[in-house]
Amino acid sequence: MTDMNKFIAGLNEDLAHEYQAVIAYTAYAAQVTGPFRPALRSFFLAEAADELKHAQMLADKIAALGGVPTVEPAPVPQATSPRAMLEAVLAAETETVARYAERMAQAEELGELALVAELHEMIVDETHHKEEVAKMLEGFPE
Ligand SMILES: [Fe+2]
Ligand SMILES: [Fe+2]
Repeated sequence: MTDMNKFIAGLNEDLAHEYQAVIAYTAYAAQVTGPFRPALRSFFLAEAADELKHAQMLADKIAALGGVPTVEPAPVPQATSPRAMLEAVLAAETETVARYAERMAQAEELGELALVAELHEMIVDETHHKEEVAKMLEGFPE
């Protein structure tokens, strides 16, 4: 496998996780119950919109690099309680920030400088998501 093929495979893994995030946020927004439903629902729907933009950017980039964008999402964790939803989201966002940091280093090595900038922007978004969810979980009822 060439470096570029390996890189495209990595971007497809990222894309599968962005689709996972779109599905998880959409499902959780629909399912969330309890007194915090209005706030959590708005938050989840706003996140879903961000993740869809990320997915679109990655799919475009994969196609531009000569690859085939995946149509398979990564497995979506089911969650029923609001706390379990937030915990699932925190784990996913944390993992995503780490994956994008690695992808950014690879993009830099390959001289894909526009993509470096786009990955940087996504790291900003995902870190923001992650920090917001961590704050919401502080003192969140079981
Ligand atoms: Fe994302
Ligand atoms: Fe995110």
